[in-house]
Amino acid sequence: MSFPENFVWGAASASYQIEGAVKTDGRTPSVLDTFCKQPGKVWGGHTGEVGPDHYHHLEEDVELMAELGLKAYRFSVSWTRVLPEGTGAINPKGIAFYDRLIDRLLAKGIEPWLTIFHWDYPEVLFQRGGWLNADSPDWFAEYTGVLADAFGDRVTNWMTLNEPQGFVHFGLHKGAHAPGLHLSLKEVLTAGHHVLLAHGKSVQTLRARCAKQPRIGVVPVGLHFIPATETPRDIAAARKATFAVKKRNTWNTAWWMDPMILGTYPEDGLRLFEKELPPVKPSDMETIAQPLDFFGTTIYSAVEVKAIGYGWEVVPTEPNCPRTSMDWPVTPEALYWGPRFFHERYGLPVIIMENGLANNDWIHLDGKVHDPQRIDFTTRYLQALHRAIMDGIRVDGYFHWSITDNFEWAEGYRKRFGLIYIDYETGRRIPKDSYDWYLEVIRSNGRSIPE
Ligand code: GCO
Repeated sequence: MSFPENFVWGAASASYQIEGAVKTDGRTPSVLDTFCKQPGKVWGGHTGEVGPDHYHHLEEDVELMAELGLKAYRFSVSWTRVLPEGTGAINPKGIAFYDRLIDRLLAKGIEPWLTIFHWDYPEVLFQRGGWLNADSPDWFAEYTGVLADAFGDRVTNWMTLNEPQGFVHFGLHKGAHAPGLHLSLKEVLTAGHHVLLAHGKSVQTLRARCAKQPRIGVVPVGLHFIPATETPRDIAAARKATFAVKKRNTWNTAWWMDPMILGTYPEDGLRLFEKELPPVKPSDMETIAQPLDFFGTTIYSAVEVKAIGYGWEVVPTEPNCPRTSMDWPVTPEALYWGPRFFHERYGLPVIIMENGLANNDWIHLDGKVHDPQRIDFTTRYLQALHRAIMDGIRVDGYFHWSITDNFEWAEGYRKRFGLIYIDYETGRRIPKDSYDWYLEVIRSNGRSIPE
């Protein structure tokens, strides 16, 4: 099967998960640094202090990306590396690190795709109220401006936020992720509204300050529902489930993406949250709904549903259902239905900004890292993605999560998502079998994938 010409074959990462060097060259703590130090928050007491130590392996890692034949590399910037106080003084050594990365990537013919925020919020700003502070959208716009000025002459593809559902729902409501708060729903919705305003102001700033015309997107977490059968009723049920706001929390798609793209909060959410909604000015919604160039999404797994009455019910997973080492069901159809439903509702080109699996990888007796599960998983998902494209869904790219093994949040380093194995004792990089497999997929533009 061949993919469209100029299809963007990439791989992704995030600053706190791969960089290490948390106290180097002027970087100050993020809420992740503080959170990891709290006993019991991260498996094994792991932190992002060293990890893959990409900060000191930059040239080697970019060389491996070039040998892989990557067309694009998605990374995020550490806010406190470039703005140690969150706002105000710019740290030249922080800027210099990302300059080196961007220049190295471009020299190797790899497009840098820059995520502005992937959860490492400045501790100093958190102490001033964080996303609850009404100034937080302007703080984020200022940070965006620093990046636009510094990198907007070479970076074309920008993403404002990675998974707002993740850092708001799990970070501020459930407490499972940094900063580990258990705010009331009213406070969570207020913080969420500031996050949406921050996104809008960030897009405005990029369009005003980037020397090269930017292509801008956002990366919601893909909360996907797939139909148990391809009957119209089950398909309609899965579509409804994908965009419904039914639970009294922000772990959903439409509460975030409707304001950003359609300019309104979804009706079911407005009814459900009527008593907790923050004051929303009409000008707020205009600020939030800035035109975007692509709909980025992370897709790993999906929930299977079937129609019942006018609603749906979840179909329990079978005991034989393959699962990754995160215990997520392997559901390749998510890469057909997710892009289809998102493209139908939001009309933007879809880009898979993350897809991959955690697998129990280790160095085999022959010194190699054989990971047939990752090859099988990714083959199945790409076959489903190809079907979506053949059905007329505009999909412009696929970024595998992740380029290297890295810090998997509360799971620490025990969950390995990389195409490249990291020996955390020595820092040694070992391309896995899936690295060689993906190299061939990229070289052949997908023709190496069986129909
Ligand atoms: C996410 C984040 C990544 C994760 C990856 C695997 O989607 O949670 O963007 O940082 O590491 O998705 O869970």
